[in-house]
Amino acid sequence: MCGIVGFSGEQQAAPVLLDGLKKLEYRGYDSAGIAVSSGSTINLMKTQGKIVNLCEKTKDGALTPGTAGIGHTRWATHGAPNDTNAHPHLSNDGRFAVVHNGIVENYAELREELKSKGYVFLSETDTEVIVNLLEYYYKGDLKQAVMKTFNRLEGAYALGVLCSDCPGKLYAVKEASPLILGIGVGENLFASDVTAIVSYTKNVIYLEDGEFAEITPAGVTVFDVAGRPIDKKITRVSWDIEAAEKGGYEHFMLKEIMEQPHALKATLEPRIKDGRIVLDDCDISPEKMKSFNKILITACGSAYYAGYAAKYAIEKLCRIPVYTELASELRYCDPIMDEHTLLIVLSQSGETADTKAAVEECKKRGATVIAIVNVVGSSIARLADHVLYTWAGPEIAVATTKGYTTQLIVLYLFALYAADKLGRLEAVEYSRLLKELELLPGAVQRTLDRCRELPEIAKAIGNPRDMFFIGRNVDSAVCLEGALKMKEISYIHAEAYGAGELKHGPIALLEEGTQVVALACYEPLLDKTMSNIKEVKARGAEVLALAPEGNRRAAAEADEVIYIPSTEPLFAPLCSIIPLQLLSYYVAKELGCDIDKPKNLAKSVTVE
Ligand code: G6P
Repeated sequence: MCGIVGFSGEQQAAPVLLDGLKKLEYRGYDSAGIAVSSGSTINLMKTQGKIVNLCEKTKDGALTPGTAGIGHTRWATHGAPNDTNAHPHLSNDGRFAVVHNGIVENYAELREELKSKGYVFLSETDTEVIVNLLEYYYKGDLKQAVMKTFNRLEGAYALGVLCSDCPGKLYAVKEASPLILGIGVGENLFASDVTAIVSYTKNVIYLEDGEFAEITPAGVTVFDVAGRPIDKKITRVSWDIEAAEKGGYEHFMLKEIMEQPHALKATLEPRIKDGRIVLDDCDISPEKMKSFNKILITACGSAYYAGYAAKYAIEKLCRIPVYTELASELRYCDPIMDEHTLLIVLSQSGETADTKAAVEECKKRGATVIAIVNVVGSSIARLADHVLYTWAGPEIAVATTKGYTTQLIVLYLFALYAADKLGRLEAVEYSRLLKELELLPGAVQRTLDRCRELPEIAKAIGNPRDMFFIGRNVDSAVCLEGALKMKEISYIHAEAYGAGELKHGPIALLEEGTQVVALACYEPLLDKTMSNIKEVKARGAEVLALAPEGNRRAAAEADEVIYIPSTEPLFAPLCSIIPLQLLSYYVAKELGCDIDKPKNLAKSVTVE
């Protein structure tokens, strides 16, 4: 994954690069580095570990003077996370520095080719071939060298290039990895994500695959793959820098959990006008909607679980079969689909490599694609036929929270919208469900308010070997996301099971004191889940139950109960996930884990 940033202006570059890298740290954080040009010298510093180590090493940038530079925060793919493999990498003659996000698939053959020409490689990375190709092709014209190098690379990459012969000039290259230009006054930037840019300028240009840019303090010029200048639209970003900062919270994750009522409102309200759902950005005619004979939902990680949780509502309301498939599987499974398939794709970042590839595959086969995406202008948003944005604002913590819930609410909106187009809902039922939807942001706020005991509950849970999350119907889908959250940030082994499935195996693992989280929020199956809670209690397990308010039976069966507001049962996941997010947060906090940057993970997974 990795994050890259570049700056050219009049002020010192290093502090801007370090600040940008801090914003991009969610993309990878095993090592980091910057290269800054000062006259014809390149000042390079890199180090293992997080950006804070790099700040220390460079004395907050004071040891790397100069007004143009590039920076990198790494999530290792080729080679261990050590100082040598950290970026930027230098060419053999020291004239070029490169930062790179992505994977060069043909790097092994390029490396052999360069070795045969006498080039020496110091690191295990694929990036070193890029920087030495630049040296090899450079005959005094940097742009030509960049183009020739670009033409030799296969794979997915975003690059930043610095050359000691051209102080103040940077090149940025994009091929299937995200890259955005920031257009300032007397200073310009590039970065993997707008969060690294918004403190300096809100005017951005989204590069397309195959494009590259020349960046100087005076301006940017974007070129197509043949090197012809092209006109690009400048987009104004609506995110404020405060939205990408902690705002008094100890962690981004907690801040983002607390922001959910607001994010849900912002996502929902503009789409309801005069008691009707209006999806301007996804206007599908009733005829077209009726032409779909199946809906397929695809995504990775939590986004997949959001799709899985909403499948129940879409199927129930639309009466069309809804299937879910992990994007990493879908892309290679020779899927059966045609123009009668509606593909719904979910991605917070809009850049996940597997998700993008799955969309490309399904489009080839004729499916209509609706993307539910948080990052405006991201690759998946641009690929889709229709886009429904989640207005969650920037999500920085690696473990998604508001990304997941805003995806859920868009899916519920879509379920109701589609059911109406299909003529499957009486007017009264449509209005009732729409009112229920409108109540959800408030219900989420009330759920947050009710979670005051969770820090104590988390303390009591401690550090168990295993945790089990059980539930039925939509609750079982929420369990998957709850268990994932717990694994991601506390490193406790957590498994999710349909409550009815326990007796087919997992019950063998229950013993005195095993921690079980039981969701009994889906009211139509409450009695069934209560029986399952009895079964696990009988084996000595400790049970934390989630139940709708007013359900006193839960208190009788479980050791602890968190009550959530009673909503339309199909929409219950939106509230029931909240205590599970907070539970994983407080358990991880008790264990002293690095909550916003869990080990081995990255937020935006742009490699396969
Ligand atoms: C990573 C993140 C998850 C996220 C998944 C999909 O694994 O850590 O939080 O759910 O990628 O990301 P996307 O941006 O496509 O939603």
